[in-house]
Amino acid sequence: MDAGFRQIKEEQGEKGSLTSSYLEERTNKSGVLSCIFSLNEEVGALARVLRLFEEKDINLTHIESRPSRKNKEEYEFFVSVDPASSKDLDEIVDGLRTQIRVPWFPNDIRDLDRFANQILSYGSELDSDHPGFTDPVYRTRRKEFADIAYNYRHGQPIPHVEYTAEEKATWGMVFRELKTLYPTHACREHNRVFPLLEKYCGYREDNIPQLEDISSYLQSCTGFALRPVAGLLSSRDFLAGLAFRVFHSTQYIRHSSKPMYTPEPDICHELLGHVPLFADPSFAQFSQEIGLASLGAPDEFIEKLATVYWFTVEFGLCKQGNDIKAYGAGLLSSFGELQYCLSEKPNIQPFEPEKTCLQKYPITKFQPVYFVAESFENAKEKVRKFATTIPRPFSVRYNAYTQRIEVLDNTQQLRNLADSISGEMSILCNALQKME
Ligand SMILES: [Fe+2]
Repeated sequence: MDAGFRQIKEEQGEKGSLTSSYLEERTNKSGVLSCIFSLNEEVGALARVLRLFEEKDINLTHIESRPSRKNKEEYEFFVSVDPASSKDLDEIVDGLRTQIRVPWFPNDIRDLDRFANQILSYGSELDSDHPGFTDPVYRTRRKEFADIAYNYRHGQPIPHVEYTAEEKATWGMVFRELKTLYPTHACREHNRVFPLLEKYCGYREDNIPQLEDISSYLQSCTGFALRPVAGLLSSRDFLAGLAFRVFHSTQYIRHSSKPMYTPEPDICHELLGHVPLFADPSFAQFSQEIGLASLGAPDEFIEKLATVYWFTVEFGLCKQGNDIKAYGAGLLSSFGELQYCLSEKPNIQPFEPEKTCLQKYPITKFQPVYFVAESFENAKEKVRKFATTIPRPFSVRYNAYTQRIEVLDNTQQLRNLADSISGEMSILCNALQKME
């Protein structure tokens, strides 16, 4: 298949429905429509697709099949349509579209409760190379944290945790070391918020702050909230949380034997790396944009968005005046990499979502390349533009009053949006007049 194929949409397999994981179409110069789609081995799946063409009186001039390149359990079908019988090519595509459903995504902030038990790894189970693998006390402790996350439901206060002296000592070491680097290496937004977290949220060398206190503080700044998570969520689930301005945060701490290393996110990473930036309105908006773009997106776009997230929210650099500073949480929570990323050694590239999204990356080593944003505003605009390339038959918007995602696919929704924009515009005009 040539590169001119345009991916339209995907659905997740579901019993009793078409289970194509993708559908691509192209039109050649003489108006012939060809399309390629994949189906699982369910009996009758192909027949149902072919019935669509039959119902519209459309002749197929060519059809062939082969095992799917992407999923061993599926087959790909390539079909061409006789242009003489296809008066309206869009109609055919729409017919196929109606048969294909978008991956499920949370509509209501309470739907995030469904993710609690969908941890991919960690939680209370540790890999054999984890520093705490052979420590029964640490593993018991991890189970306590995992249980808090599994049992947490939206709207509840995040349970207070009494950290042990050993845990506080680990935190203290990380806190002390990183704090020496922030004035010279962290972006100005991080440095602006950090003292506020010390003042209002108990950020101290001898105290591990509580998620509930931080969540309340962030909500008063940008509406961002934390919810406890037991381990790693899938990219789709994690990004969906950001659409609601919800950040899934771990609550446990790394093993005390290696205070400056963790193979997974822990409370040092979340509180020192992520939290300060979520208190910044522009960065909060940027993070939410990535989340909104992910809702209902096909798997391959989720992977691209997760990569964009990785090289921005986790490992991003940004220009500030004549300097480059770090804003990624993976950098701001790693003493070694925070120094390394701003040295002469790494490869630095401008942040361009279309290119950045294709970059491969290691999880536990220093990154081979970093991407520099002009500013959060600029990065946000670029992500917004990138999001328009996602094959999705609707736009979404978050309604902060109802804490629901609005799917903008009907005139009533658009009218509501227009009303809301009109209200905001009149406030803006009024304020401008008064300033004049
Ligand atoms: Fe992170």
